[in-house]
Amino acid sequence: MKALQCVELGGPDKLQINEIEAPEVIPGHVVVDVKSGSINFPDVLMIQGLYQFQPPMPFTPGGESAGIVSEVGEGVSKFKVGDKVFAMTGVGAFAEKILAAEASCMAIPDSMDFDSAAALSMTYGTSLYALKQRANLQPGETLLVLGASGGVGLATIELGKAMGAKVIAAASTQDKIDMCMAHGADEGFIYPSGDLDRDQQKELSNKIKELTGGLGANVVYDPVGDSYSEPCLRATAWEGRYLVIGFAAGQIPKIPLNITLLKGCQIVGVFWGAWVGQFPDENKKNFDELFSLHAAGKINPEVSQKYSLADSADAFTHLANRKAKGKVIINM
Ligand SMILES: NC(=O)c1ccc[n+]([C@@H]2O[C@H](COP(=O)([O-])OP(=O)(O)OC[C@H]3O[C@@H](n4cnc5c(N)ncnc54)[C@H](OP(=O)(O)O)[C@@H]3O)[C@@H](O)[C@H]2O)c1
Repeated sequence: MKALQCVELGGPDKLQINEIEAPEVIPGHVVVDVKSGSINFPDVLMIQGLYQFQPPMPFTPGGESAGIVSEVGEGVSKFKVGDKVFAMTGVGAFAEKILAAEASCMAIPDSMDFDSAAALSMTYGTSLYALKQRANLQPGETLLVLGASGGVGLATIELGKAMGAKVIAAASTQDKIDMCMAHGADEGFIYPSGDLDRDQQKELSNKIKELTGGLGANVVYDPVGDSYSEPCLRATAWEGRYLVIGFAAGQIPKIPLNITLLKGCQIVGVFWGAWVGQFPDENKKNFDELFSLHAAGKINPEVSQKYSLADSADAFTHLANRKAKGKVIINM
């Protein structure tokens, strides 16, 4: 079968399309004929050796995929050949077939096509866990979303609205803000791209305070990090929750702890994958909620760009260059 392979750590130019052995089914697993895989920022980090989990070399990148079960291993009870599933495997998605543990798969509801299913799991899974279990977001609260037109960003806007929050979207260009508004954001503003200096950081804090009537945001969702984090923490409300999602801008910021004292606020870590491993039943309940929201038209994964497997390295370049909006899909 054909698969994208990382044979040497580095940028997307190091990725290769290779002919490799198709996986053989083993007990407790299914083989899925992959139709769609979706790319996430962690995939870009993993091919460079910069992610917290690193598979042995060579490996096929891609954390999530959707397709049709073609083989069923001994002991599998939830799936049969021909079932439509999505698989959250962490790696291996950008290939014609994938071997997936039964526990890593879920049935695709009738309301969803393969692209939407592949686009939904990591972004909406992360964001619902972040807003519900970690931030305890309440109706009427203000939610600030950084990198708001990206994969997890757009998912957070839609979920924040579905949970009754007032959502403020922050992103680096007007067309990104336009997309956020189309997905339900109440307010949107452009922040500068690049390393923010002191004045730009102050401006960012002031802008958030202005949009929240001087009170600050109750919940901040931050997948960007770097020089964006401190000014946003300074613009949280009293007893606010600051969600640490990721560091797409590069550096992991160091934060003066006195800010949390002055605001009575919390800095809350979010690691969805680790939580899923420890609490699979809670995650299943979250996904039942996501499927209901999708069927009701309240969430709608935005697939902005599609690549073929042959061109899949270009999808990595697109994401890494801050060009992606919503989700980027690779079709096998
Ligand atoms: N904690 C978890 O469980 C979890 C789960 C999934 C993802 N994540 C993390 O969430 C972050 C976003 O992931 P994603 O898949 O949504 O990525 P994405 O679609 O590429 O979105 C990232 C956003 O970050 C902003 N950004 C700022 N500086 C950037 C830079 N130098 N390069 C690229 N983007 C930059 C961009 O928006 P602007 O141009 O508008 O600034 C972009 O839209 C990543 O750090 C990822 O590791 C965490």
